[in-house]
Amino acid sequence: MAFITECLNPLSEQLLSVQQQLGIPVFTEPRAIRADAKTLFAPNIFNPDFFTPGTQAYSNQDKVTLGKRLFFEVILSGDGKRSCATCHNPSKAFTDGLPKSHAIKGGFLQRNAPTLLYAALQQSQFYDMRTAFLEDQARDVVENKNELHGSLSLAAKKLARDTSYIRLFQQAFPITFDSIQSFHIQNALATFIRSLMPFSSKFDRHMQGKQVMNQEEIEGFNLFMGKAKCGTCHFAPLFNGTVPPAFTSTESEVIGVPNDKKFTKVDSDQGRHQIFPISKFLHAFKTPTVRNVQLTAPYMHNGVFSTLEEVIDFYDQGGAAGRKMELNNQTLPAEPLSLTAEEKRKLILFLHTLTDEVKM
Ligand code: HEC
Ligand code: HEC
Repeated sequence: MAFITECLNPLSEQLLSVQQQLGIPVFTEPRAIRADAKTLFAPNIFNPDFFTPGTQAYSNQDKVTLGKRLFFEVILSGDGKRSCATCHNPSKAFTDGLPKSHAIKGGFLQRNAPTLLYAALQQSQFYDMRTAFLEDQARDVVENKNELHGSLSLAAKKLARDTSYIRLFQQAFPITFDSIQSFHIQNALATFIRSLMPFSSKFDRHMQGKQVMNQEEIEGFNLFMGKAKCGTCHFAPLFNGTVPPAFTSTESEVIGVPNDKKFTKVDSDQGRHQIFPISKFLHAFKTPTVRNVQLTAPYMHNGVFSTLEEVIDFYDQGGAAGRKMELNNQTLPAEPLSLTAEEKRKLILFLHTLTDEVKM
């Protein structure tokens, strides 16, 4: 922490300021991180439009307003009772508090509902990385028979009966608007998700020079980046699998989440292998962000862990392989971390500093 706040951040700010004084222009081609941000921890560092399918999908405030209304809109669902917010509740950092979400006709979905905060800043979506763009993800969810079981074209017709919606679509798509099309709905929902990156946690304020983290929280950050090795997969400052320094690709990892707390076998979900059947992807899952993890229990793709203490004990013992469960391709080192009770407590105090204070 001292290295970042006392050396790296001041150096990065000074470099930008010298560049500006000398009149050297910053690059203008679209990149995931902005050339005119002061440091890697500045609130404007990421450019979510980099992760869109093209310029016509770029963000504007009117698309966010429309997308937010659609996010809560039950017209998108086949039974007229569900919306995105049913499983992505803003008061739980856009999760639902369940190990696995309720399917529309009873039973459960295959996986746990992830947070949507910072989800835009990933090369691909879903635990198995099956979808590249949020626009495609929106179609997948609306038309999935277990999730919303609706139809975008039918929803477009129903929305067109409401003049307040027509006005919002016209404002959001001033050039291409003629009538409400599926693409407009997909892009508005995606743009709303691209707006969900408040960078307003205690950690963010600290990294922006405000000295708000206490000594134990700072030690927790140092453990996260050091002895506990969490930062080798959950990359700062997003703490997900989007890889520095370019932040253009997102990684999956094999850690061997068990099917239950008895730790006898690895969960049967094949992860990326289901989409890409090569052996190294068996049980590989996209590394999720740990921002707002205070609000997103239960944890992992199957919701097997109820508390952060359980998550950290799992890592402390070297994942599945460290517990001698059968798993040949684990990418998490199997050696125990040998964290003390005090160290585990500080790690959790640090994780709690990643909770956003601005509610979206
Ligand atoms: C029935 C519950 C449910 C509903 C309704 C729902 N989702 Fe999800 N959502 C999930 C689950 C479960 C996953 C994880 C699925 C997986 O990884 O295979 C998910 C994943 C996602 C992701 C991927 C995030 C990531 O980091 O990979 C996005 C984005 C998303 N949902 C947005 C939406 C939007 C937009 C809507 C409304 C159009 C919506 N969801 C409706 C349960 C739901
Ligand atoms: C080898 C890469 C790797 C390392 C090292 C690692 N993680 Fe993870 N982490 C992952 C992956 C992959 C997942 C998702 C696994 C799944 O759902 O099956 C995950 C999931 C999580 C989750 C659950 C998030 C949620 O919303 O469900 C938490 C919390 C977490 N990790 C914290 C940590 C901490 C704390 C450490 C350090 C002690 C750590 N991780 C080290 C790869 C890693």
